[in-house]
Amino acid sequence: MKKLTIEQAAKLLKNGEVVAFPTETVYGLGANAWNTSAIQKVFTVKGRPSDNPLIVHIASRKMLSDFAYDVSDDAKKLMDAFWPGPLTLIFKKKPEVLDLITGGLSTVALRWPNHPIAQQLIAQSGPLVAPSANSSGKPSPTKPEHVKEDFGPGFPVLEAGRTNIGLESTVLDISKEPFKIYRPGYIGKRDIENITGVQVQLTSSKDNDTAVCSPGTKYTHYAPQANVRWLDENNISPDKNSLYLLHGLSPGITDSPKLNIICYRGNYSKMARELYDRFREADHKGLKRIFIQPFDKTDSSLPAITDALVNRITKAIG
Ligand code: TXA
Ligand code: MG
Repeated sequence: MKKLTIEQAAKLLKNGEVVAFPTETVYGLGANAWNTSAIQKVFTVKGRPSDNPLIVHIASRKMLSDFAYDVSDDAKKLMDAFWPGPLTLIFKKKPEVLDLITGGLSTVALRWPNHPIAQQLIAQSGPLVAPSANSSGKPSPTKPEHVKEDFGPGFPVLEAGRTNIGLESTVLDISKEPFKIYRPGYIGKRDIENITGVQVQLTSSKDNDTAVCSPGTKYTHYAPQANVRWLDENNISPDKNSLYLLHGLSPGITDSPKLNIICYRGNYSKMARELYDRFREADHKGLKRIFIQPFDKTDSSLPAITDALVNRITKAIG
């Protein structure tokens, strides 16, 4: 089958179809952000609950002003620092923004992705809503193969290999104070505080307020069929039916493809890039369990991506 081009994808999107495309975090399932029936298709294709709002993906400041009601000085500073990039900002919305996008909330989530193909596509198609391009409940797709696994081999995907970050964007609510992170990602609390100069709250999906303000956080995501758990480091006896993901120096244990032991040795970015692929691979191999080495919560030298890893792994544990 011939590969889809950006021009063809933009045309499909303008005609109200849905198309999967790469971003620097994960593949997104795009639809025209001004077309109700196209957005409805996104919910149907994914099997997504209708109260879970969507992120609008833009590729210019002009597009921003069509959706965001007011853009504060802090918002401008954050955009200057992190856009295009893996930071989703939540603004008060313009009245024209479709309710289907926001799940009836008074806010809208916006992101300018830092991927050349996503940018060229949006420049041609106009703004796109784009949840991760997986069936609801499956891990987000980091390769075109993952999208086809969930939506079928003929599904239109703009293919660009593996995504670089591998975990979804940081979601930051700047529509009211204090600013809150609803979903941790590559851009961390400290990165944001360094720009705004004020403290930002990292919320837990268990907070009631978070579930109301960011409904997506209450759903169990990212769960493979295999049973995911934190590894008891004092009691390791590798078995053939389990996958082991270790990030530390793992004294006494070495990588073993045969025993499915993978040691990242402090390369947290690589672990994040590969996590969802490892989850899917474990299911393909019919493995029963996935053991992941816990992170030291007291170690403030760990990069922000480890907060995102803990968040996604905790969700997969359920
Ligand atoms: O990295 C990403 O953000 C990827 C790529 C494709 O850009 N997209 C993505 O979309 O992860 P999705 O739909 O899987 O996750 C969107 C998250 C959900 O947790 C949702 O609740 C939250 O953003 N969200 C969207 N609009 C919101 C709003 N107005 N207020 C609060 N949370 C919102
Ligand atoms: Mg998702």
